[in-house]
Amino acid sequence: MKNLTLIALTFLALNTFAGVFRVNPYQTITQDREVTLNFWPVNDAAVDIKVTKKKNGFANFEIKKFQASSSELQKISLGTIACNETLSYEIFLDKFKYDQVDLPALKCVEENKSMNIGFLSDTQIKNESGLERAIKLSELVEKIHKDNPFEVLVNAGDIVQVGANITEWLQFFDVSKTYLPKTYNIAAAGNHDYYDTNTTNKTPDFFANFFRSKNDSNLGNVAFELGKIKFIVLNTNFNVLSEDRIQLQWKWLKSELDSAQKKDLFSVLVMHHAPYSSSAEYIRPIPRRLREQMVPILESYKNVQLVLSGHLHMYERSLKDNINYLIAGPSGGIYNVLSYKNEYMKFFKQFVTTFTLIKINFPKITFETYDIDQNLVEKFSFTIKK
Ligand SMILES: [Fe+2]
Repeated sequence: MKNLTLIALTFLALNTFAGVFRVNPYQTITQDREVTLNFWPVNDAAVDIKVTKKKNGFANFEIKKFQASSSELQKISLGTIACNETLSYEIFLDKFKYDQVDLPALKCVEENKSMNIGFLSDTQIKNESGLERAIKLSELVEKIHKDNPFEVLVNAGDIVQVGANITEWLQFFDVSKTYLPKTYNIAAAGNHDYYDTNTTNKTPDFFANFFRSKNDSNLGNVAFELGKIKFIVLNTNFNVLSEDRIQLQWKWLKSELDSAQKKDLFSVLVMHHAPYSSSAEYIRPIPRRLREQMVPILESYKNVQLVLSGHLHMYERSLKDNINYLIAGPSGGIYNVLSYKNEYMKFFKQFVTTFTLIKINFPKITFETYDIDQNLVEKFSFTIKK
């Protein structure tokens, strides 16, 4: 019976693809603030996209024309986006207007200005209850965005359960269509995004196709500045990366942190795995390597005070040497339980599906984490120390 219900729910979710788009338009922001518009039409079509960027009262229009194939995701680079610039686009398929997206100005945070970041992870859907939770979470994220628009949304990885399964990716885009188009999306690759892909030493194809631009490093890492903030996204799937590629990432991380420190920027690190957690995963090779090799790098820079991760399927916040480590609860993934004594843990909650709104009002950072029943799980603030 449960299986039948799962099939029915999945069918309902997938059935909404019937129509114009297999994947509704959404935008990613990656290395050096490059914005990519992504969509997947159901039918081949002649496409016209009118792109408008506005800043300080000046508008730039551009019309992109091309023939779109229904056999693959369409990826259109919209160039870079500047602080306080608005972006909107209209999509016409065979001369018929199907979609219009008006993104709010990318309010890159500066002195005396605020900015919001949405944060979630492990959106993978494993079973019937996972699908139900993912749908409820998407409703929650939509509501929070309406009340507190977030300029960027961070997904710390394990976007799907089996990275090689296109049906799962399409299901993810259907469930998340309430919020993905309304913001700039940032994602880290999780271990599940590699499942069944037989991929080593680079990001898996579906993940790269959906969340990276054609210009991004195939190591999976990206970095860009938004006003006073620098986002640095690492690929921590060390089990599928060769030693030389891992070393390349450390070298890259140091150079990005160096440049951020010289510009007096506040760095936010995003990665799938977490160095500190109340999970038995703590003693496994990847978290151990993060503690032994990455944490000393982070602690040598004063401007790194926030690390966002997922993977553990439990909500947890730790603090060590002035660095806040936040682990999102799962979205559609199963729950894990407390199984290790983490001496740096400051807040922990298991069996909870979470979304965190991060409000940045320099130099104050506030987390508001909600569960899918819209209860506040935790509210916490810290002030960036110089
Ligand atoms: Fe994971």
